[in-house]
This record gives sequence, structure tokens and C-alpha cells, in this order.
Amino acid sequence: MKEMVMIIRPEQLETLKGILDKLGCGGMTISSVMGCGAQKGTVQETGVTEIKGFKTTINLLPKIRVEAVVDDKIVDSVIAEVRDKMATDHVGDGKIFIRNIEDAIRIRTGERGKKAL
Ligand SMILES: Nc1ncnc2c1ncn2[C@@H]1O[C@H](COP(=O)(O)OP(=O)(O)OP(=O)(O)O)[C@@H](O)[C@H]1O
Ligand SMILES: [Mg+2]
Repeated sequence: MKEMVMIIRPEQLETLKGILDKLGCGGMTISSVMGCGAQKGTVQETGVTEIKGFKTTINLLPKIRVEAVVDDKIVDSVIAEVRDKMATDHVGDGKIFIRNIEDAIRIRTGERGKKAL
């Protein structure tokens, strides 16, 4: 099992939910966060306004964080679909971080591992 943490543009959430549903993801947790990447949150990152001057301060832009613990088998498909449907050619499209998950437990039934997803 892997946890996929995907930090995306808020307007892309519905697309990502559709991708995860189609690929058989068991569940997801979503939060509203603020963040910045390589551009340090400059307005250019929105892809709307051109940056006028050099900024030295870091700004944080609103993003959506989606966490999904999934079967290893679907990880590559999620990545491919996200790249295919969500890459815009503008900076700020977001990132996917992946980590190993040792175990999962469905509290209601006691099922463990992949059966609990
Ligand atoms: N190294 C990081 N650690 C934690 N969160 C990050 C990291 N990089 C990006 N993020 C999160 O992802 C969001 C989107 O990042 P973003 O897509 O701008 O990355 P980038 O490296 O600047 O790539 P790009 O050049 O395509 O914009 C950030 O606002 C932040 O919330
Ligand atoms: Mg960026």
C-alpha cells in the first residue's frame, strides 16, 4: 500500500476525484491548505498575471491537499491520469508525494491491509 499525497489547484479537485474513483481508490481525505513551490508563491504561479518584479518574500497560495491510501497496483495509473488530465503547461500544477503504508485497519470490522482500504 502507498499513500499518495497530492497537492493540486483547487479548481482541479473534481477532476482528481473522478480519476481516483475511476481507478478504484477506496477513499480519500481532502483538506484546504496554503503552500508554495519553486516560484515561492509569486503571482506568476497562478498562470494569470505576469510577475512584474523580483520578489524576495515567500507568498502562500491556496491549494487542495488530497491524501489517498491505495493499492500499489494503481499508483502508476493515478500518476499517468493526473499528468494526462491535469497538467496545464503553467507553473503551479502541483505535486504528488508517495510513501509506504505499513498497515490499515477498518475499525468497524477489524479487516487489515488492502482489505481495509
Ligand atoms: N517540496 C515541497 N514540499 C512540500 N510541499 C510542496 C513542495 N513543493 C510543492 N509543494 C506544494 O505543492 C504546491 C504546488 O507546487 P508547485 O506545483 O508550484 O511546485 P513547483 O516545484 O513550483 O513546480 P512548478 O514549477 O510546476 O510550479 C505548493 O503550493 C505546495 O503546497
Ligand atoms: Mg510552482
